[in-house]
Amino acid sequence: MHALVINCSPVKTGATAEICRIVSEELASRYSVKSICIDDYDFSFCRGCRTCHETAKCVMEDDVANIMDEFEAADIIVSVSPSYWADIPGQFKAFIDRCTPWCNTHEPHASLSPGKKGYSIALRTGPNMPECERVISSIEHFYGHLEIECCGKLGLPAVEFKENVEPRKQEIIAFCREI
Ligand SMILES: Cc1cc2nc3c(=O)[nH]c(=O)nc-3n(C[C@H](O)[C@H](O)[C@H](O)COP(=O)(O)O)c2cc1C
Repeated sequence: MHALVINCSPVKTGATAEICRIVSEELASRYSVKSICIDDYDFSFCRGCRTCHETAKCVMEDDVANIMDEFEAADIIVSVSPSYWADIPGQFKAFIDRCTPWCNTHEPHASLSPGKKGYSIALRTGPNMPECERVISSIEHFYGHLEIECCGKLGLPAVEFKENVEPRKQEIIAFCREI
């Protein structure tokens, strides 16, 4: 079984990256794990042309196809996202917009193989959970339209820097044991 862990932040050395590292380490005994960062990929914004509503294909050719290859190869997808202005970072939102060819609200649409399970982890600097829930609901909305089953979520408020992750390690490990 293959697990894909996605750092949805553009920061490759921050708190999100540290959570991804812990998750990948925890899953490695049960899954073959691939860890990626949204910032490793180069892709354009969706232009909203809706050609994909007729063709199930995007008019642009770039790294979105490479990310989707990783989704296709995975049985389990874990998206780890910080809150940027109370939602997912723009880079990850730009990727989701470009997944419109795979969105199940129009026919024809591209499809991932069935049976994939999606997990969401949200972190933020502020102390309260509702903003984490908002980030998680953006990820789960995306999973839903790609027919990836939403199977678990973890909110981690009061995390800003890499150093703030260590005291939360047991929470993260407990979450991973349910995956
Ligand atoms: C552009 C930007 C916007 C942010 N907006 C919020 C916010 O609205 N609420 C919040 O609690 N934290 C916010 N944060 C803090 C991040 O959620 C927090 O620092 C997180 O740990 C960042 O992880 P990263 O460095 O791995 O991207 C913001 C950080 C940045 C850089």
